[in-house]
Amino acid sequence: MIFAKIERNFNLFEGCELILECINRINTNCVKYDLITNKYGQDVIPAWIADMDFKTAPKILEMFSKRIEHGVFGYTFRSKEYYEAIVRWYKRRYECEIDPEWIVDGPGVVPMIAILVNVLTQPKDKIIIQPPVYPPFFDVVRRNDRIISANRLIKTKEGYEMNFDDLEKIIDEKTKLLILSNPHNPVGRVWSYEELERLCLIASKHHITLISDEIHADVVYKPHRFTTILKVTQEKVAVLNSPGKTFNIPGLTNSYGIIPDNEIRAAYKSALERLELTTGNIFGMEGLRVAYNDGEKWLDELISYLQENRDFVYNFIKQQMPLIDLFMPQATFLIWLDCSKLNVEDPQKFFLEKARVYLNPGSDFGDPKSVRLNIACDRQLLLKILQRMKLAYDSLVR
Ligand SMILES: Cc1ncc(COP(=O)(O)O)c(C=O)c1O
Repeated sequence: MIFAKIERNFNLFEGCELILECINRINTNCVKYDLITNKYGQDVIPAWIADMDFKTAPKILEMFSKRIEHGVFGYTFRSKEYYEAIVRWYKRRYECEIDPEWIVDGPGVVPMIAILVNVLTQPKDKIIIQPPVYPPFFDVVRRNDRIISANRLIKTKEGYEMNFDDLEKIIDEKTKLLILSNPHNPVGRVWSYEELERLCLIASKHHITLISDEIHADVVYKPHRFTTILKVTQEKVAVLNSPGKTFNIPGLTNSYGIIPDNEIRAAYKSALERLELTTGNIFGMEGLRVAYNDGEKWLDELISYLQENRDFVYNFIKQQMPLIDLFMPQATFLIWLDCSKLNVEDPQKFFLEKARVYLNPGSDFGDPKSVRLNIACDRQLLLKILQRMKLAYDSLVR
């Protein structure tokens, strides 16, 4: 009886190490915890969705406190310093010069993808995505009556790679757009300059526009280095980004794009105006400006904590659950677990029922035999999650 061994009343946030300040999020209408425990029971440990349990950077909080003390939350515009902070971030962090004129505003990366899909393609046009990939890439295409062309990643001994041979084969005259996750959610690949160059050459040969979603660009583990697609090409490309993942402020719904091409940029801007989506919110704007100007020390600390979590999870699974296949993520706080060697129909359901751990179902990413684990939490909690998963795993393989 597996459940007898599982401690049901574990206090999720007990013993949080306060290095980064891990915060109890329960009863805050939080999607990660409250939505799941309300639905599946208080004993479930949620380890899904891509946000973190850490308090955001102190400098950001200081600025928010000032704005709260000020007490007026009237209409606010994005300042010159806001755009300069983005330009400096791309230069300092990714060694890429951008013109502030290329920057466009947005209410979130996913809404920006949806707008670009509408601007750059027609109903029934084909859009390439590379599963397993972030679920909204599928949703945005389907909900806008476009057709998904799936160019699945290939799994080699070294890890996941883009399938360039198949990519050439699936392209036809209806193929207009490719949506890239760079670095890749969920497999944690940091695409190299050479891979991006090859991708851009194929896209350019077939007049395909690229959307490069770079929201995971900052959580990259050494020796890997993030390459923005803008270093490879500035033609027919739209880069989308936000400090949402990096500084754990995705709920502020503020994002930006970098679109060097005048026509694409103008088309995007006029769509944003048509939808009356040009005003942002004060905290989103201030959050970005302060994060990019003053957040790097906190970010370094975050990356080193996450790197230890990543190594810990990797070693635990390799040693204790060897039938689960995984690669060391090069980026992101997400780990992709291929459970196809486990004798279970639905691994997400299995770990929910038998381990009382809620993971992202791989089916949402186009790979039903996998699950995605979020490691951006306190290490004690992570240990608890892994111990529960191991008990469930042992019940299968013994
Ligand atoms: C690849 C990727 N793009 C976009 C988002 C969400 O961006 P936003 O909240 O700004 O829409 C996520 C969140 O997990 C993501 O992983």
